[in-house]
Amino acid sequence: MTIEMAVQELRMGGLVAFPTETVYGLGADASNPASLDKLYSLKGRPRNHPVIVHLGCRSWLPKWTETCEAAEKLADAFWPGPLTLILERRPGVSDQLTGGQNTVGVRMPSHPIALELLIEFGGGLAAPSANRFGRISPTTADHVRQEFGDRVQVLDGGPCKVGVESTIIDLSGGAPVLLRPGHITPEDVFEVLGKKVRVGEGAVRAPGTLDSHYCPETPAFLVDGEKLDKALEQAKTRGLKVAVLCHQQLTSETYWVQAPEDALEYARELYANLRLLDQAGADEILIEEPPAKESWLAISDRLARATTGFKRLDCPR
Ligand code: TXA
Ligand code: MG
Repeated sequence: MTIEMAVQELRMGGLVAFPTETVYGLGADASNPASLDKLYSLKGRPRNHPVIVHLGCRSWLPKWTETCEAAEKLADAFWPGPLTLILERRPGVSDQLTGGQNTVGVRMPSHPIALELLIEFGGGLAAPSANRFGRISPTTADHVRQEFGDRVQVLDGGPCKVGVESTIIDLSGGAPVLLRPGHITPEDVFEVLGKKVRVGEGAVRAPGTLDSHYCPETPAFLVDGEKLDKALEQAKTRGLKVAVLCHQQLTSETYWVQAPEDALEYARELYANLRLLDQAGADEILIEEPPAKESWLAISDRLARATTGFKRLDCPR
């Protein structure tokens, strides 16, 4: 599909999946109620969960939200880029976008195809990640096809560079609150605003922050790196087939995906790796716990939601 075809589809009220630097988005005309209706139906997303409005230009902001000094500073520093700002909504902005709240999430993506699409379309695009609700986010055009088959056309922009969804900072209450960790860290925001970022309890307001999200179909567990051998041995004794994502090299016949040492690389490959593990035909997925450092915050957050927590190793054999 070309950008012209995508623009035409969006103008006719259709949906188009497109690449961003974070993950692929499922785009709909943010000003068209019928398009937004289609978007929620196709994703299977609860109607009260707000979506992010993607902008092609800073000058489009006043159509959707009020602004403030902190928002301007963060946009100067990080737009276009993987940062979503939650700001007070402008009168007339649809409840379909806000989930009935008084705020709107806005971001200007940096992927050249996303920007070109937005500019050619000439208006805001609502774009949740292009996956069925609760499932693993897509970071390639093929992932989107795995989610929706031929029900949606995809603009192919290759693999996403960041690999995890944008950082969400809520500025609607004045002080900055982190609702979802991403590539841009609380420390990055602190450097620009000179204000400490509080970590929010976004559970109700942001579905990406529901406990269970980004889930493989195979039951998945976190394992402390030092206990991995024990976990593998236990699985073997029980006759369970496991698929593992870890740093250390495994010698057994276990299906094993090497976890990158570098946090940026780990994040970039995370969702593709979760899909690989899920497709390995295993009884369970074991994932080595990531380092407890700020640069791994977004990864730890996504892994905590993709798994049902730590594997219990104290059960009798
Ligand atoms: O990187 C991203 O942000 C990707 C790409 C496609 O841009 N989009 C994305 O959208 O992750 P989605 O819908 O999967 O996640 C949007 C998150 C949800 O957790 C939603 O609740 C939150 O943003 N959100 C949107 N508007 C909000 C609002 N007004 N208040 C609080 N949270 C909001
Ligand atoms: Mg999502």
